[in-house]
Amino acid sequence: MGAELQCDATRSVNARGQTLAPGFIDVHTHDDLVVLRDPRMLAKISQGVTTVITGNCGISAAPVTLRGELPDPMNLLGSAEEFHFPHFAGYRAAVQAVHPAVNVAALVGHTALRNNHMDRLDRSASVAEVAAMRGQLAEALGHGALGLSTGLAYLSANAATTEEVLALAEPLAEAGAVYTTHMRTESDAILDALDEAFTIGRESHVPVIVSHLKCAGIANWGRGSEVLQALETARLRQPVGCDCYPYAAGSSTLDLRQVDERVKITITWSEPHEEMAGRTLSEIAAAWNVSQLEAAQRLQPAGAIYHSIAEDDMRRILAHKATMIGSDGLPCDPRPHPRLWGTFPRVLGHYSRDEKLFSLSEAVHKMTGMPAQRFGLAGRGLIRVGYSADLVLFDAQKIADTATFSDPVSPAEGIISVWVNGELAYTCNGATGERAGTFVARGKAEWVQ
Ligand code: ZN
Ligand code: CU
Repeated sequence: MGAELQCDATRSVNARGQTLAPGFIDVHTHDDLVVLRDPRMLAKISQGVTTVITGNCGISAAPVTLRGELPDPMNLLGSAEEFHFPHFAGYRAAVQAVHPAVNVAALVGHTALRNNHMDRLDRSASVAEVAAMRGQLAEALGHGALGLSTGLAYLSANAATTEEVLALAEPLAEAGAVYTTHMRTESDAILDALDEAFTIGRESHVPVIVSHLKCAGIANWGRGSEVLQALETARLRQPVGCDCYPYAAGSSTLDLRQVDERVKITITWSEPHEEMAGRTLSEIAAAWNVSQLEAAQRLQPAGAIYHSIAEDDMRRILAHKATMIGSDGLPCDPRPHPRLWGTFPRVLGHYSRDEKLFSLSEAVHKMTGMPAQRFGLAGRGLIRVGYSADLVLFDAQKIADTATFSDPVSPAEGIISVWVNGELAYTCNGATGERAGTFVARGKAEWVQ
């Protein structure tokens, strides 16, 4: 810092030749419960991530009152006994109390709300059930929730009508909150699904963020431009954006509808067949001498990585100016998709520096200023006097992801120092033990298209 500047810093850092950026914001996580279970949050802080947004894809830790089994895919977040937050305020307090290494901001999941009030999830909610869900959502928004997420593709929410979601979007508009969606489908009918998401946003006057935008399934490879065109058209009339992870493979619970003999599917965990974790579905099917669909049925409940995205489509979406970066990492997975540990360095190193998909400053904006504005993370996302000192210092020439599909638990290279709320949380020698993260309540969102 130049001598002419007034400052009251107690420490100075020589960062010559290195790059200082606002701490990265992971807009799409399933870190709701892992942050309480293991508040060190190594997978994230090691990438320079200083804030995670939880509650995506319709599933959240709060507000939740379980009745019986955990519905799919809420089991991605943790085990049934870890869900003990009937009120959003309780979750907020628990995050504060545990002193996480990163800041946490949270959405409320539509599927979580459905499960609180419905006896079965394969139907749409009644008027009374919608009213109950809406009351819980409004209460959570009052305690700082960022907005509502849906996971309409999952069977636990697929029967929900557009009207059901529209009714829930009403309190979002009042609160100035956002709507994020894992759309009804990401394959053949993706344009209809986009249209549904945009309609919900337009009719309720709420900004829409399409989660992990992709064209899934071999039949849809090459449709990236068409999908982005639909996004562009919508952006002319309403606030719309999306997030994306920088890999040509997705991951979630094992979905029979996504089993396709032509697609490589790796099983990451299986409750009845633990021994099959890490093997491909085709190997398992061959070993059992059954079809892949039959093998998938026997493996359930299970988790999977689907190599069902075209690299070209992913690059196009990643590079689009409306796209933010979200890892969609699955922290409970024993053999997680490498996006959990590698997303941010992969965007900065591989896609920006090496492949020149976009400039370094564009890459940083996608993971800092843009998400802070859209989600209403006030006082974050920029390096500015008066802002929280969430910072990452990295070597732009060396930054790289090291996590791979075969060796997915591996920290980034080239991250030099990470500060959270002014405290040094991580260096190239690892975590410092300082955990200065806090719960971040919704502030005023500002949408710049
Ligand atoms: Zn999702
Ligand atoms: Cu997700």
